[in-house]
Amino acid sequence: MDCRGFVSFGAVWLLLLGLVVSVGGIGANWGTQATHPLPPATVVTMLKDNRIQKVKLFDADSGALQALAKSGIEVMVGIPNDMLYSLANNVAAAQNWVAKNVSAYVSSGGVDIRYVAVGNEPFLSTLNGTYLTTTFPALQNIQAALVSAGLGSQVKVTVPLNADVYESSTNLPSGGDFRSDIHDLMVEIVKFLSDNGCPFTVNIYPFISLYNDPSFPVGYAFFDGYSPPLNDGGTTYDNVFDANYDTLIWALQKNGYPNISIIVGEVGWPTDGDRNANPTYAQKFNQGFMNRVMQGKGTPLRPGTIDAYLFSLIDEDAKSIQPGNFERHWGIFNFDGTTKYELNLGTMNSGALVPGKGVHYLSKKWCIMSPSVNLDDSNLGPSVSYACAHADCTSLGYMTSCGDLDSGGNASYAFNSYYQQFNQLDSACKFPNISTITTSNPSTGNCTFKIMIATTQTSDVMSRVLSVQHSVSLVLLALTCLSGIF
Ligand SMILES: *[C@@H]1O[C@H](CO)[C@@H](O)[C@H](O)[C@H]1NC(C)=O
Ligand SMILES: *[C@@H]1O[C@H](CO)[C@@H](O)[C@H](O)[C@H]1NC(C)=O
Ligand SMILES: *[C@@H]1O[C@H](CO)[C@@H](O)[C@H](O)[C@H]1NC(C)=O
Ligand SMILES: *[C@@H]1O[C@H](CO)[C@@H](O)[C@H](O)[C@H]1NC(C)=O
Ligand SMILES: *[C@@H]1O[C@H](CO)[C@@H](O)[C@H](O)[C@H]1NC(C)=O
Ligand SMILES: *[C@@H]1O[C@H](CO)[C@@H](O)[C@H](O)[C@H]1NC(C)=O
Repeated sequence: MDCRGFVSFGAVWLLLLGLVVSVGGIGANWGTQATHPLPPATVVTMLKDNRIQKVKLFDADSGALQALAKSGIEVMVGIPNDMLYSLANNVAAAQNWVAKNVSAYVSSGGVDIRYVAVGNEPFLSTLNGTYLTTTFPALQNIQAALVSAGLGSQVKVTVPLNADVYESSTNLPSGGDFRSDIHDLMVEIVKFLSDNGCPFTVNIYPFISLYNDPSFPVGYAFFDGYSPPLNDGGTTYDNVFDANYDTLIWALQKNGYPNISIIVGEVGWPTDGDRNANPTYAQKFNQGFMNRVMQGKGTPLRPGTIDAYLFSLIDEDAKSIQPGNFERHWGIFNFDGTTKYELNLGTMNSGALVPGKGVHYLSKKWCIMSPSVNLDDSNLGPSVSYACAHADCTSLGYMTSCGDLDSGGNASYAFNSYYQQFNQLDSACKFPNISTITTSNPSTGNCTFKIMIATTQTSDVMSRVLSVQHSVSLVLLALTCLSGIF
């Protein structure tokens, strides 16, 4: 069937109704690894205001799930990797997980849970095989628990996998097959998903292709028709997303599952923390992707609608930066729900994102380096290192949003990040003789000196940070120790 005819007919019909709705709808990942997360109700209002119909959560966060009740938004609930061991080895644990984290919300809570994501990229090569033996048994136990809870047809299981579970021996999509060290396990999992009518979920990141390989052709990461295209036996590819997705299709096809449904669990582009992470590229990539979603256009081997969840909805300043400094900047919205760039999701007449509403900020004040400080001051280096180790300095560095600051500006940025993270406590702006509080906004150009939002309760992440340290004397003690090293 030619879907385009159907799409244009549908578009006319929807325009007559005065609505603009994308063909398959778009989802978003909602992660909560932030020191100052937006209140869940604010996030759900943002999802509704932007007509984002599907959301993917990384764990069964009770605040998020309660806020999603009766929202009409479809939910994929995730199970963190560190729970896989117990769920794999204990049927009762899987049953309890389903009872507490699915049944309870679906039956009386009115939460539209459609999927359970068992683990998150558990076979990523950098995890060194830690979850190789537990992922599949955990998947089976959760599926069995859903069936015995009477949710077997309503809630489907899946495993969000990184695209490194497959590879191509020829560098062409047609050479695609599952990674040799996990080949047989992957086939077993795909068979299980297929037998139970469950989708295969894959995360695809053209940004990472570019990040990992300096000689990667930049244009091939986007959807503007890179030339010359890759020719795979007559099928041409002008962007790496399609080539990557179709490598998976070939792998599935070779192993007997050409028709299993596929969800793109994560797709997106970060805006800071790397030379290729900026609002211009993120806008270009995400708008290019959304245009295809709106057109119902898939890849050469799967031409229909793509089912996808953008990564991500909001920036998370407490994520691990082990993958890179960009890791805290994937949001289409800033941490406070403000927009970063124009993006038309195809869901709104206005074609513009609607920011979060009713967000409360801390006072308009910042912690900066005292103007009188001599840049040779021996307290400066250790203080900046200390602040950056405990707060977020991922906007400092080569070709980032604050990459043009001089060393004094760097110090101010670091001090402010620390001060805001600790909710503007006076004691968090007492870097020895070198910091001061100002009410004049130090932001310049693209470099924003943040003011955090007021959170009603201290987030889990913050409780952990706070329990580890904080108090002037501790800061001073740490600085004294560091000074000894420097
Ligand atoms: C439900 O999910 C939460 C969040 O992931 C987890 O902490 C909790 O242990 C789960 N409950 C059960 C009974 O497994
Ligand atoms: C995987 O192994 C490497 C090299 O031995 C190590 O640096 C890394 O920390 C390991 N990662 C995990 C998650 O165990
Ligand atoms: C896949 O779908 C096609 C078209 O509907 C069908 O002809 C084919 O038999 C299916 N293949 C498998 C393995 O189910
Ligand atoms: C500021 O950001 C915009 C949008 O990404 C970019 O075009 C511009 O070059 C940046 N300016 C500087 C000084 O980096
Ligand atoms: C500012 O800090 C960043 C990150 O620590 C560093 O890469 C850069 O060289 C610093 N710039 C100056 C002028 O000190
Ligand atoms: C701060 O300044 C005071 C007065 O100039 C001085 O006595 C003290 O040693 C300084 N503290 C540090 C840590 O440099």
